[in-house]
Amino acid sequence: MITNAGSGTRIDEVAADLYRISTPVDAVPGGFSFNQYLIVDDEPLLFHTGPRKLFPLTREAIDAVMPVARLRHVAFSHVEADECGALNEFLAAAPGAAPLCGAVAAMVSIEDMADRPPRGLDDGEAVTLGTHRVRWFATPHLPHAWECGFLMEETTGTLLCGDLFTQGGAAHEPVTEADILDPSEAFRQQMDYFSHAKNAPAMIERLAAAQPKLLACMHGAAWRGDGGALLRALGDRLDANPA
Ligand SMILES: [Fe+2]
Ligand SMILES: [Fe+2]
Repeated sequence: MITNAGSGTRIDEVAADLYRISTPVDAVPGGFSFNQYLIVDDEPLLFHTGPRKLFPLTREAIDAVMPVARLRHVAFSHVEADECGALNEFLAAAPGAAPLCGAVAAMVSIEDMADRPPRGLDDGEAVTLGTHRVRWFATPHLPHAWECGFLMEETTGTLLCGDLFTQGGAAHEPVTEADILDPSEAFRQQMDYFSHAKNAPAMIERLAAAQPKLLACMHGAAWRGDGGALLRALGDRLDANPA
């Protein structure tokens, strides 16, 4: 469903009560996309706020599904503008919401930057939203940023995998079963956004062992299939070609 004709912002249900919001942008040559994911439940959760300058578009898309004021958790992978640039705008729009992030992000940045105190999650810690449950995987420096981590939504088997499998281009299906590894590897060669962490394959193996069925990418299409196998394939590529 397109929620803003001018920008092309859209929101689509990609798993039960789990929505992908996507705005195409021209931030890099060839186009790009910023995605956020909304889990509608007793305690609704937003994963990624989108950039501050796109806040009106992201908010408009959420409002098409539920009032943004219902949000209780404003969650994100790491501290960059597309992940959490509109954090304070969302805290203002949703008076019952608090930031939800890894313990490192909370300690290093969000205790100071956010208008309300964050809840910082330890590795493996779970949060029940009602029907859904999310679990934090701390992945320091994978693909970048010390505070980086991902949330796994366990009832739908959705890994909110942030910048992993980033695909260039502005136009994507909300969900695809076509290959995203080659396109994302091509983008990695172009932008070199991985930190080259030595233990990346080991961290990827932990994510793979959770056996996600949907990889909710932050840039590009979400991907449905054997997420464990695709993560291991990414680990092999990183091993073979770290840079
Ligand atoms: Fe990032
Ligand atoms: Fe990102």
